[in-house]
Amino acid sequence: MSEQTTNNHESGQKATKRREMSRRQFLSYTLGGAGAFMAGGVVIPMLRFAVDPILQPKAEGTFVKVAAVDQITEEPASFSFNVRQVDGWYVSDPTLVAWISKDAQGNIFALSPVCKHLGCAVNWNTNPQYKDQYFCPCHGAHYTKDGLNMAIAPAPLDQFQVEVKEGSVYLGPIIPNERV
Ligand code: FES
Repeated sequence: MSEQTTNNHESGQKATKRREMSRRQFLSYTLGGAGAFMAGGVVIPMLRFAVDPILQPKAEGTFVKVAAVDQITEEPASFSFNVRQVDGWYVSDPTLVAWISKDAQGNIFALSPVCKHLGCAVNWNTNPQYKDQYFCPCHGAHYTKDGLNMAIAPAPLDQFQVEVKEGSVYLGPIIPNERV
């Protein structure tokens, strides 16, 4: 009788032990799941913030209004304008300059002022020796009105893509000179 009582007591302890293990597992799964869910709520937005600028399409091909069409003549004139640049997380609005004029057919075109020798800024018609040409004061490179390199510089001046609409001139990305 007493042996049976002892066996019942032991099996009761084992049953209790099994229930406690099961409760612990349940609690650890529940807490682990809740912890992972909360951690995901914090980590996923951070990951998205870190990666998002890389996934965004670059704002290439954006055109900026620079001048009114009736401001443009056959004599090149310089115009300043700002462009929005997004480089990963860094956003800036640098000022660019373009020399804009019309050709003999009335087509508007815009040249970059950056000398193709070593990058100084060219100016229009500032050296009497090179009349009606762009001249670079740094080492004497000079270019025709279309940007053709005449000396020193190894390549023509680059040009901006141009769009004319509703009486305004819009400039886009810089491209290699297609006029010479
Ligand atoms: S940078 Fe223009 S000539 Fe050298």
